[in-house]
Amino acid sequence: MSRNKVTILSLQEKKQAGEPITMLTAYDYPTGLLVDRAGIDIILVGDSLAMVVLGMENTVSVTVDEMLHHCKAVARGAKNPLLVGDLPFMSYQVDPREAVRNAGRFLKEGGMDVVKLEGGCEVARTVKAIVDAGIPVMGHIGLTPQTISKLGGYRVQGKDVASAKALIDDAHALEEAGAFSLILEAIPSPLAELISEGLRIPTIGIGAGPHCDGQVLVTHDLIGLFDRFVPKFVKQYADTFSSTVEALEQYRDDVLEGAFPAAEHGYGMSEEALETLIAELGQDS
Ligand code: KIV
Repeated sequence: MSRNKVTILSLQEKKQAGEPITMLTAYDYPTGLLVDRAGIDIILVGDSLAMVVLGMENTVSVTVDEMLHHCKAVARGAKNPLLVGDLPFMSYQVDPREAVRNAGRFLKEGGMDVVKLEGGCEVARTVKAIVDAGIPVMGHIGLTPQTISKLGGYRVQGKDVASAKALIDDAHALEEAGAFSLILEAIPSPLAELISEGLRIPTIGIGAGPHCDGQVLVTHDLIGLFDRFVPKFVKQYADTFSSTVEALEQYRDDVLEGAFPAAEHGYGMSEEALETLIAELGQDS
């Protein structure tokens, strides 16, 4: 199926038309290819790759260079979705000039179309600086995994009136600063609905209920390829971990039993060449 490249403008049109936006993560060439083939609008090369691909404890340690390595691979596989590069922890917090420089690398070296960063009012100045430099920014509020120590763990945000109001302020500050879209992670569904209704830009929810303008999941959660835990908000559509282990065990058994490789997996040579080879080897010895 041929389709057009997804743009910020086409996402905005979807919000206006009330058409849901689809987004998934990808971390390498094959997942980029698969997510593109599935007709998903947006691919996020998320810093979740620290955990689901690199096996780290959390997302804090992953570096800009590691992220760029994965961005380049995804960009080779995915041609149609809008490509979002996730700015890792401490690549944008120190000062806006450094943030602009790092964001620029995601476009120039990583092949991304836009960048994403976590935080609310406190990063609005940085978002504006990046946008002013010509780089579109997606915001991310609610449960922000890069500041998990400060939040006290992976827990739902905005459950009481004060924290809900703070998230609404964050959302408006980011829109005001020029963000083209916002991720809302792990917040109550009615709050996500209020935020989505109050913004001109599209919201993409993860654990934020059905009333966001779009939905995102970590692809490895969705296809069952992450072995540690499955968050409550994930719907698993496949058990890739188990089916892959089954295939690998089958291969092991086939090799042990001599069932692989079979004749069709090998290369032949002409009888004449074989006879000549054996004769010449006999003369040499
Ligand atoms: O890194 C990531 O995968 C994310 C999603 C959870 C939105 O930020």
